[in-house]
Amino acid sequence: MIGLDYGHKIFFVTSNNGKYVEANQKIKNIEQKNIDYPEIRSENLSEIVVYGIEFLKEKIRKPFFIEDSGLFIEVLNGFPGPYSKYVYNKVGCKGILKLMRNEKNRAAIFKSVIGYYDKKIKVFEGICEGEISIRMKGKSGFGYDPVFIPKNSNKTFAKMDIQEKNMYSHRGTALTKFVNFMEKQRLFLKY
Ligand code: IMP
Repeated sequence: MIGLDYGHKIFFVTSNNGKYVEANQKIKNIEQKNIDYPEIRSENLSEIVVYGIEFLKEKIRKPFFIEDSGLFIEVLNGFPGPYSKYVYNKVGCKGILKLMRNEKNRAAIFKSVIGYYDKKIKVFEGICEGEISIRMKGKSGFGYDPVFIPKNSNKTFAKMDIQEKNMYSHRGTALTKFVNFMEKQRLFLKY
């Protein structure tokens, strides 16, 4: 675990327990807060995150972070992208496999943006290149995990445990940047 004990709890505002568990593998001292906030529709995930933070910052009086992610499929011009959640809720992994049925180019990327707020906003991004599998494989994780195979692996995310997924994933990369930032802050505060 790269995780740190920061001495005070940092809230992770999310209703997605899968995301919380992944973050908790990297950062011990976090607490899940299930508070609704508006998610604007934008091609730019940072914009979505900053808007969410602006909404939440008056309501939460402690340091907190939120995260937004999306799946961008090359041959579909980046679809579902900003519609990832909506598409998943409507047609799920099966719908994606149907759309991709006759496609040879299966390249896709996952993007993750973490927005952290402690008096000011700091944004951390992670990208994971990979491809859409031919069929669903694996039971772990959430969302599109059964149909996404990251580059340099032959397994879907749903075939990986949390630690392995974090080594490859968009969110794992964004979390590592976040942890490095927090580590620097801590050193700065000490000296
Ligand atoms: P959001 O960040 O909650 O808006 O997520 C957008 C959509 O992408 C949701 O349907 C998630 O389930 C899905 N998603 C986000 N991150 C991942 C991931 O790491 N694996 C699989 N699906 C994901």
